[in-house]
Amino acid sequence: MEGRNCSIEDICKQQKEGLNMRALIKHLHHEKSSHKIGDHVLVMGWVRTLRDQKKFAFIEINDGSCLANIQVIANSDLENFSEILEKVATGASLKVNGVLVESPGKGQKVEIHAKQIEIVGQCDSSYPLQKKRHSFEFLRSIAHLRPRTNSLGAIARIRNALAMSTHRFFQERDFLYVNTPIITASDCEGAGELFQVTSLKEGASKNERGQTDYSEDFFEKPVFLTPSGQLNAEAYALSHSNVYTFGPTFRAENSNTSRHLAEFWMVEPEMAFADLQDSTKLAEAYLKFVLSDLLDKHLKDLELFNSFIAKGLVEKLEHVIKNPFEKISYTEAVQILEKSSKKFEFPVHWGIDLQSEHERYLTEEHFKKPLMVTDYPKDIKAFYMRNNEDGKTCAAVDVLVPQMGEIIGGAQREERFDILKQKMTASKLNLETYDWYLDLRRFGGAPHAGFGLGFERLIQYATGMENIRDVIPFPRSPKHADF
Ligand code: 4AD
Ligand code: MG
Repeated sequence: MEGRNCSIEDICKQQKEGLNMRALIKHLHHEKSSHKIGDHVLVMGWVRTLRDQKKFAFIEINDGSCLANIQVIANSDLENFSEILEKVATGASLKVNGVLVESPGKGQKVEIHAKQIEIVGQCDSSYPLQKKRHSFEFLRSIAHLRPRTNSLGAIARIRNALAMSTHRFFQERDFLYVNTPIITASDCEGAGELFQVTSLKEGASKNERGQTDYSEDFFEKPVFLTPSGQLNAEAYALSHSNVYTFGPTFRAENSNTSRHLAEFWMVEPEMAFADLQDSTKLAEAYLKFVLSDLLDKHLKDLELFNSFIAKGLVEKLEHVIKNPFEKISYTEAVQILEKSSKKFEFPVHWGIDLQSEHERYLTEEHFKKPLMVTDYPKDIKAFYMRNNEDGKTCAAVDVLVPQMGEIIGGAQREERFDILKQKMTASKLNLETYDWYLDLRRFGGAPHAGFGLGFERLIQYATGMENIRDVIPFPRSPKHADF
């Protein structure tokens, strides 16, 4: 299945033109490969294992293009054979020129009989990836080398695939891709858990009350790393109708959990002339699209997780794609939780913010499938969510999935000027900072709605990986910003 999206004709053409003589391992293993038995191929990659049988050496090489390695057979005809036996070790990088032959071994159809091997980069015995299995915790301490392992290598390809199908989903539906800013003066979620960005040095001047003098700061006011691109995306939805932003977001919440990062990526579509229902429909269609695309194109990588990390993963994903998501209101969710015999750490009553234990009970034990909860109490949700007519709830939606809880948070936005202003005041926001946001209601406002998907949570869901720190290349979490 690997490489199905890449045209073999293109590769052949490139090779004929002498542009790219290097063959990627995924193309050698491809069922419709242009590389035939007997062809000369040039492969480059890193040694995974080496078996030395005196007259022969079997070298497994991986280049990151797919899960499978290619086996290279080196024999004593090679002029540098003794050098190879002496210097090639796990982790070394090699350039191999050879002939593609049928493999008598199990598990692979082809292998390479080497004609020439160049040791590009040696690797000594202090290389930490010597044995086959390491704990994910250990691998986190070598985040610069862990992409060379099977599991983290596969995650990198899955992450790439999900990003590409995210763009495909929105582009095919005429959503405009908008790059919203990273540096912002406004706290979209209003939770105040922001990283401040400043050009002031230590010892910068303070006023008489001991407060920082921002007139000397780069922007002459406090600014932060954005916790969400939503507010800016709204401005573009109210000019281009359907838009999405997909970028890094930052939260300084001290959540040392397997579902929180300080720096994570968010996919945020925003639609004008749309309501809460449009947003829930889009969220369900989006999740089904990207997961089904992943199953189509990356089954080999997913099977690794199916075998070693989360038994039944592929079946679960197939089930998710085929069946409609459950949809209930917050009030109904609270009733289900109150009726359950389960003992929760946080007691349940109408008005509480659902905790992860509640979310997981609903989706894992009660419904056993993805669940959309709508119409939360307005007092526990962000200022921008549209008040419902009942005076108690707002047009919010959270999508909850088993083993994870919340994967998506969305809402219909408050488009009524007076009510929004009132909600902002109640949330103690500085109205001056948000005056531009109010302009979007002053000048040709329209009902609009959208959602935010935590991209790492999607990858966790798709792979069954337990810890969110293992699905982003270089994780940032409390006390950890290494590499
Ligand atoms: O529910 P949240 O806070 O919603 C927003 O930020 C809205 N402005 C989105 C919108 O409507 N455009 O965050 C959205 C999603 C969550 O459902 C969760 O999946 C993820 O972002 N998320 C995190 N992922 C990893 N680490 C964290 N600290 C996260 N906080 C939220
Ligand atoms: Mg949320």
